[in-house]
Amino acid sequence: MPEYTLKLRRYDPESGQAPYWQEFKVDLAGHHSVLEGILDARARLDGSIGIRCSCRAAICGSCGVRINGQPGLACHTHLDKALKTARDGAIEVEPMGNMPVVKDLIVDMEAVHWKKIQRVTPWLIAKEPVPEREYIVPHEAMVDVTQSMACIQCGACVSDCLSMEVDPLFIGPAALAKAYRFVGDPRDDQQFERLNDLAEDPHGMYDCTHCFECVDACPKGVNPMGQIMRLRRRAGGDHHIDDRNNGHRHEVAFTKNIRRNGILHEPDLLADSYGGKFNPRAIPVLLKSLPVILRALVRGKATPGKALLHTHKAPKDVKRIYSQIEDREERFELNLYVTGYDEEETEKADEPAAASEGEGQPSAPGAEVGR
Ligand code: FES
Repeated sequence: MPEYTLKLRRYDPESGQAPYWQEFKVDLAGHHSVLEGILDARARLDGSIGIRCSCRAAICGSCGVRINGQPGLACHTHLDKALKTARDGAIEVEPMGNMPVVKDLIVDMEAVHWKKIQRVTPWLIAKEPVPEREYIVPHEAMVDVTQSMACIQCGACVSDCLSMEVDPLFIGPAALAKAYRFVGDPRDDQQFERLNDLAEDPHGMYDCTHCFECVDACPKGVNPMGQIMRLRRRAGGDHHIDDRNNGHRHEVAFTKNIRRNGILHEPDLLADSYGGKFNPRAIPVLLKSLPVILRALVRGKATPGKALLHTHKAPKDVKRIYSQIEDREERFELNLYVTGYDEEETEKADEPAAASEGEGQPSAPGAEVGR
């Protein structure tokens, strides 16, 4: 039986002592999980190790930790796999980030996670009149929200959210993904109100900086950042919500900037987000940003010539991509979460005459949800 070394971060805030690392050796086969390793160490070597768990099957979301610096579920990570990313042969396990430690690997999720989930009204507000029997919901609409429904509230995305590190009041990836679960549900009666609320909140949907950390962190493939982008497309694109945080205008300015230049031309972005250099709304913002602008000039990151006399020359291919997307009659949302074999396609592929293009290829029923 192979021996694995687990290096656990120990900390008891009530003890008054600083956190420290402690190593434990466990004799388990590689297919056992890191959680099983920790429980084995606790049962045999030190009963005071603090770890939270319940289902041990990646369902309840209670065993979220960081393993070798990456957030994940301890019950869903095999020891042999964890060893591959371990430094010096020891698998490091520490509590999740952005949340206060209760003891060892257990964090307090109340203020940073659960209160924010409550903040987004995490239940369906049914349209009236409520039908006597069940609602009939289009298949595509449910495919669209399936990904956000897969969340098990483990907090891994919250643990590594860089925006939350800077702004602890940010509603955060888990709660915003939850919000999309109801915004995307055609049975909900308050979609505009939900979107307006999350767009107008300075710590809401426009506080995300697209760092992709939550996408990598999520053990269930929920893609929280993708759900936040869906909220934005619904708010700005479908409901034309012009939020006071300038979030939507900034997005539009960013998109136009790329269309004109091919790559981002930073000096234009700030002013364009407020309607252009000569828009009265932009002047106070530009004045406020003067120290940053001066620093950029001193460091050579920007020059007056480049900032003011820049010629816009996006490559043809960039323009082609823009017109291809903008000429579509309806927007397409890609949902690659739901995959499988489309029954109809499989039947056709089984017929000899149809044994040609696309045979045996997995399809994604409803993977493209047009709206
Ligand atoms: Fe339930 Fe790990 S113990 S998800």
